[in-house]
Amino acid sequence: MSGTDRAGGPADMTLGPVLISAADIGARVADLANQIQRDHRAGTVRFLVALKGAWMFAADLARVIRSDVEVEFLRASSYGARTGGCGQVKLTGLDELDLATARVVVIEDIVDTGRTAQALLDHLERSGAESVRVASLLSKPSRRIVEVKIDYLGFEIADNFVVGYGMDCGEAYRNLPDIHVLQRSP
Ligand code: IMP
Ligand code: MG
Repeated sequence: MSGTDRAGGPADMTLGPVLISAADIGARVADLANQIQRDHRAGTVRFLVALKGAWMFAADLARVIRSDVEVEFLRASSYGARTGGCGQVKLTGLDELDLATARVVVIEDIVDTGRTAQALLDHLERSGAESVRVASLLSKPSRRIVEVKIDYLGFEIADNFVVGYGMDCGEAYRNLPDIHVLQRSP
């Protein structure tokens, strides 16, 4: 089955063309991993991975970095951010983490409105971490409501809904190797 005729996902949406190919993602991820390694030369980097969307990006980054990487996960979900609602962000799994003196890199799939990243950064301010940086595979600057500094950014994209390379729509498409635009079915 080819990528474009696969079943799954909401019935009114279809998989559109490739926006960013696996090869382009791989090259960019290697660049970002090298930057992260340079910025954390001595000692351990603690990845703080925002599930679920950032899982593949985090795994690929970690495999390029030659210094020590520890990996922690949290769950970030937002309500109403797309539909014009309050955009409340719920973070789960952070309270159990001891990040005192850690050098943290938050790993995000997309910074869209910026609310998730900001909520995370607000929380981490109280964590006692030595440093906190943000890596995001994608950014949609035209959608920004809260300005956040992204230290390691893969690609800026326009305001399209995208899937693949870890990112979903209704839990479908996460395993696609390329990033695709999702389109309304004709
Ligand atoms: P923010 O809080 O508005 O920045 O939302 C960030 C989160 O929304 C991302 O981590 C994704 O989980 C989700 N998201 C935003 N845009 C897309 C998209 O185009 N495809 C899949 N998920 C998206
Ligand atoms: Mg996410």
